[in-house]
Amino acid sequence: ITVAANQPGARISPHMWGIFFEDINFAADGGLYAELVKNRSFEFPMPMMGWKQTRLDGADASLLVVNRSNADGNNPRYATVTLNNDKGRFVLTNEGFRGVGVEKDHAYNFSIMAHAVSGDVNISAEVVDEKGSPVGHTEPVKVAGDWKTYQVKFACSQTVDKGKLNVVFTGKGSIDIDMVSLFPEDTWKHRPGGLRADLAQKLADLHPGFMRFPGGCIVEGRELLNRYQWKKTIGNVAERQLIMNRWNVEFSYRNAPDYFQSFGLGFFEYFQLCEDIGASPLPILNCGMACQFNSAEVASVNQIDPYIQDALDLIEFANGATTTKWGALRAKLGHPQPFNLKMIGVGNEQWGEQYVERYKLFAAALKKAHPEVKLVTSSGPDPDGDRFNYLTQTMRTEKAGFIDEHYYRPPEWFLKNASRYDNYERGDTKIFAGEYACHIPDASQKDTRPESHNTIWAAVCEAALMTGLERNADVVQMASYAPLFARTDAWQWRPDLIWFDNLHSVATPNYYVQQLFATNRGTAVLPTHTDGKSLAGQDSIYSSATLDADNHRLIIKLVNASASVKTVSVNVLGNTTGKKAEWIQLSGTDKLAFNSIDHPDVIKPSSRTIAWTRDNNLKLDGVSVNVIVVPL
Ligand code: AHR
Repeated sequence: ITVAANQPGARISPHMWGIFFEDINFAADGGLYAELVKNRSFEFPMPMMGWKQTRLDGADASLLVVNRSNADGNNPRYATVTLNNDKGRFVLTNEGFRGVGVEKDHAYNFSIMAHAVSGDVNISAEVVDEKGSPVGHTEPVKVAGDWKTYQVKFACSQTVDKGKLNVVFTGKGSIDIDMVSLFPEDTWKHRPGGLRADLAQKLADLHPGFMRFPGGCIVEGRELLNRYQWKKTIGNVAERQLIMNRWNVEFSYRNAPDYFQSFGLGFFEYFQLCEDIGASPLPILNCGMACQFNSAEVASVNQIDPYIQDALDLIEFANGATTTKWGALRAKLGHPQPFNLKMIGVGNEQWGEQYVERYKLFAAALKKAHPEVKLVTSSGPDPDGDRFNYLTQTMRTEKAGFIDEHYYRPPEWFLKNASRYDNYERGDTKIFAGEYACHIPDASQKDTRPESHNTIWAAVCEAALMTGLERNADVVQMASYAPLFARTDAWQWRPDLIWFDNLHSVATPNYYVQQLFATNRGTAVLPTHTDGKSLAGQDSIYSSATLDADNHRLIIKLVNASASVKTVSVNVLGNTTGKKAEWIQLSGTDKLAFNSIDHPDVIKPSSRTIAWTRDNNLKLDGVSVNVIVVPL
């Protein structure tokens, strides 16, 4: 190939490579949100789901779940614990999210809201291992007076993967309890009630240019009642109204009857996380339509105003002066500075005329009030279908900022579509590849571990497509793999970028591809030609090159999608001779190799230094992604 280092072309957006966070596969509750107690506020439809009662050593006790829905519609339930004698211990055990995981010599914060009704009742907490032996506990605290939060810190002496939390009641009398909570002390940025540090760090290490959140289908809800409403996800966590997660599904291994959204990770925390990791926020809002795969429920167009108002208010919440209603709330929550929101998504994977009708109403109001904010539209899940083409044409006419395309497709599709945008219609409306992942056929993988579909082969196919996105950075200005997170013991969808359990997380080969592209982005596209044509699959090789003017680097990406070694001769037009280049490679001799929680380092990038001349013959391993960085 010939790389024209002296002819920089289209600018590459700093937002080019980003992430898409959706609460699927227990990504939020039971995942990034570090709360270890499931159903902490008894708000699941079955209020004692996840809880078990035990009376020990002669204790005579009862528990009643009380619903005060008239008095507190967001947090209607609490529990009354009554100890009828002062013998023994009444224990309320929480099973956590597929267990409570704690680490040796780490500190944990137990907290509980309680209100003394009568007599004298003491509360303590302990974490027990799989056999029921305590590995950490608090001293008892006496409950006195009106509702307040009691918080105690304690350390654990052992690492336990699938432990439990015991809340222990002693004494005689009656108390009310609510918001039973256990958090590790060392959350991300040490924020109380915050995020799981190892998972947030994995996001930061991707250096994402943007973060799309909170979904996906959860924005839509199976029906409108369970749609995502950002205003219900900010402020006091006890007052964030729990709803059923769209991925609360009941079939085979994906069984998740206990999947709800507590919104402990809400819109303020999403914006804060974006800021922490340097990602431009891209919130997606419900457009008055529930998930079209589940229900045909839509808000009628004459009832769409509240949905549009939510979007307008969100912009004010993110960017408004602290003298405005929503800007003042942002300041009150601890962030007087704006969050610098520049894009907003209207609906997810919606299609048909119903969507267009609603989009137009959103666009009219938002473009008038906030012409500075780009609108991201949806084009549905079928990148080659008629409804997709219809939406693409319509949204171009509407001059939408971005069309969000989703591709969950097999390897061949990814390879073929590496040239998808080479001759694509150029215009004002740009492409956002908002969800993509290469899905290998189930039958091709014999390994039954959940992580097994995140193969190096799938990662290489994604990298091939991504060279095509990068070569066409004038059209494609954002892209994100999906889904982002999955619990190995509670997933509904695979493959996923990062797998985790209670204590560990693992980066997939696909993660490393995302990281390699994001950390070697460049600022302008450089032409890469072979026989005058872009290299997009000839002899199974895919390429792109960029100039990184900010860091004075030339970056060449070469993907070998064949099983055999290929030699590529790289000829650079421009003065790059006599330099030392860094060659980073991700490859696997076994196409089906993958990283698992047990073996996290099977596939990972390696790096070496090579001498760089005008003409370079590079031997690319079979099934490999290669990033060559030449200082300028
Ligand atoms: O990423 C999983 C799901 O795929 C998303 O929720 C949805 O947008 C798409 O169908």
